[in-house]
Amino acid sequence: MKKYFLKVTFWLMVFSMIIMVVSIVNAQQTKEQKPKYKNLKVIRDLSQVDKHMEEFTKGLGVKCEHCHVKDNYADDGKKEKYVARYMIQMTEQVNKNFYKGEKVVTCVSCHRGSPKVK
Ligand code: HEC
Ligand code: HEC
Repeated sequence: MKKYFLKVTFWLMVFSMIIMVVSIVNAQQTKEQKPKYKNLKVIRDLSQVDKHMEEFTKGLGVKCEHCHVKDNYADDGKKEKYVARYMIQMTEQVNKNFYKGEKVVTCVSCHRGSPKVK
């Protein structure tokens, strides 16, 4: 009887260990799946966000803070960010309609390294 009890206890311990490991792994995964970006409305490909931002700064000859509130990229407080969303969509439309979706026209095509188009 005592042996039987020990056996049951042993297997119960093994099972609870497995459950513990599984739940830790699960918790880790949900942590990784937490969205990196909080306020994207036009950029769909999350792997391209950095690339886009680089294109904007180069195309307009500006720093990130031209469009972003300092240290809060998700904030929509600046007018320039608001306009930039329309600019992204407009540029995408032009490429879609005239270049079969190929990325031919970019910010620099019009802005030529300046925030204002002259
Ligand atoms: C010309 C304006 C402009 C410039 C310059 C710019 N951004 Fe952005 N950024 C935007 C817009 C517009 C969005 C939102 C895009 C959307 O809604 O899909 C955005 C979104 C982001 C986001 C996602 C924030 C979130 O959580 O939703 C990050 C991060 C970011 N920008 C970083 C940068 C960095 C870093 C730089 C400088 C290298 C930079 N941006 C320069 C316009 C700009
Ligand atoms: C077809 C030409 C064209 C393209 C392409 C273009 N823009 Fe513009 N953009 C303009 C014009 C015209 C204005 C308004 C006149 C001005 O402010 O000089 C403007 C204004 C802006 C403004 C507001 C400037 C301010 O100070 O109020 C931002 C921000 C901007 N564009 C960002 C972008 C970004 C980012 C891209 C690339 C995704 C882009 N633009 C692509 C023509 C263009």
